[in-house]
Amino acid sequence: MKGLVDEELCIGCGLCPSICPEIFKMDSETGKAVAKDKEISEDLIGSAKEAEEQCPVEAIDIK
Ligand code: F3S
Repeated sequence: MKGLVDEELCIGCGLCPSICPEIFKMDSETGKAVAKDKEISEDLIGSAKEAEEQCPVEAIDIK
């Protein structure tokens, strides 16, 4: 599984990197979140999905 952030939707609230910094980070240029391009390991799936659920604009997809 990998994380995906829809940059069009992201409002840069910063929640996802605070929930799952191993997968999400803020892009300092755009002020929006990006998902690191790596396979989400088993132990991080819970927090990555938590970020997906908590995102206020549903910009995150984990698949
Ligand atoms: Fe953006 Fe949602 Fe993360 S608004 S910063 S993708 S929690």
